Amino acid sequence: MKIIVTGGLGYIGSHVVILLIEQEHEVIVVDNLSNSSLTVLDRIKEITGITPAFEALDLQKQVDVQTLFSKHHNSDGLIHFAALKSVGESVQEPLKYYQNNINGLVYLLNQLVVHKIPLIFSSSCTVYGEPDRVPINEQEPLKPTVSPYGGTKQMGETIIQDVCVANKTFNVILLRYFNPIGAHPSGKIGEIPQGVPANLVPFLTQTAIGKRKELFVFGADYPTPDGTCIRDYIHVMDLAHAHILSLKFLWAKKNESNCEIFNLGTGKGNSVLELIQTFESSTGQKVNYKIASRREGDIIQAYADPSKAKKILGWQAKQSLSLALKSAWEWEKNWQKEESS
Ligand code: NAD
Ligand code: WQD
Repeated sequence: MKIIVTGGLGYIGSHVVILLIEQEHEVIVVDNLSNSSLTVLDRIKEITGITPAFEALDLQKQVDVQTLFSKHHNSDGLIHFAALKSVGESVQEPLKYYQNNINGLVYLLNQLVVHKIPLIFSSSCTVYGEPDRVPINEQEPLKPTVSPYGGTKQMGETIIQDVCVANKTFNVILLRYFNPIGAHPSGKIGEIPQGVPANLVPFLTQTAIGKRKELFVFGADYPTPDGTCIRDYIHVMDLAHAHILSLKFLWAKKNESNCEIFNLGTGKGNSVLELIQTFESSTGQKVNYKIASRREGDIIQAYADPSKAKKILGWQAKQSLSLALKSAWEWEKNWQKEESS
């Protein structure tokens, strides 16, 4: 099958592109390189032996999106990863986020509906805000999000759902990722944070390797067993597999609704301190950390009820937290070597 992957050189997208190529799909990668680089394309070739077609294109340019579909209107699916994702930056520059994440989506949708190309959309657990209960299932009401970034995910979902109501033959899956971590087992691709990482795992691996002096644990006075916040950390390879199963599901057209939503998480919550301890025990590497004050806007605890994805897609996370952290560490070491060479 022929699949367009927007944001296919980014962290999650590149892992999915590899699986798609390994499953012998024809992949068209679309990326404007705003948060990635062409070396990822080389890495995909090193891992799979194949360089996918690459369209260097900014989805904010409607004419370019139209041109893309004049070439690839016969595609069998599109996975839309391309978005800006920094929560903090989105608070400082909200318009940049609405323009990129919303305009890009609308331009794509116009084409997807016309050409009847099914869509998989990268949504996020951020749409739940502070949940009333855990584990969180897909029926949980959406709460106000803390950032314009989260707003773009909620709005993105609403826009897509409206389009699905108006176009019954247009099929979509919205995937709400919990906290993706880790890297490809080859150690050749992984997350490349720009500047100081805002997320826990890249900050932790950068601290362990000596790039950062210490990791600050944001708050140890939360109403949780050890006082630190709880999240559902999911291996990026498990997450990537869910996209393959989602495509199969869309093609089988067995869905009751033309817009299905799935949580992608392990179903298990881990605290910040548990994550640090698991990293230390699985890698043998000490992490210099210190308890600091709370970070504004943090959710106390969020972890998925992933049973819908298991029942309908036949998907469940298989890799342990320990394996995910080991792969993140391998990637950090390889990346460090590369940066210093
Ligand atoms: P990423 O930044 O690594 O990848 C996104 C890619 O999209 C980058 O390569 C970037 O250059 C590209 N891009 C951005 N805007 C573009 C545009 N206008 N035109 C073309 N390309 C564009 O991010 P990621 O971590 O791989 O996330 C992928 C998706 O998953 C995003 O939609 C993100 O919001 C969502 N998500 C990520 C996480 C996470 O923690 N990483 C969690 C939940 C949801
Ligand atoms: C995890 C935990 C922090 C860094 C982000 C995005 C959200 C969604 C999921 C995309 C929290 C603590 C962190 C540090 C720390 N992504 N922490 N020290 O908060 O779940 O949300 O990822 O859609 O939109 O905001 O992930 O990795 O930032 O934090 O103690 O240096 O680690 O307080 O409890 P989070 P995170």
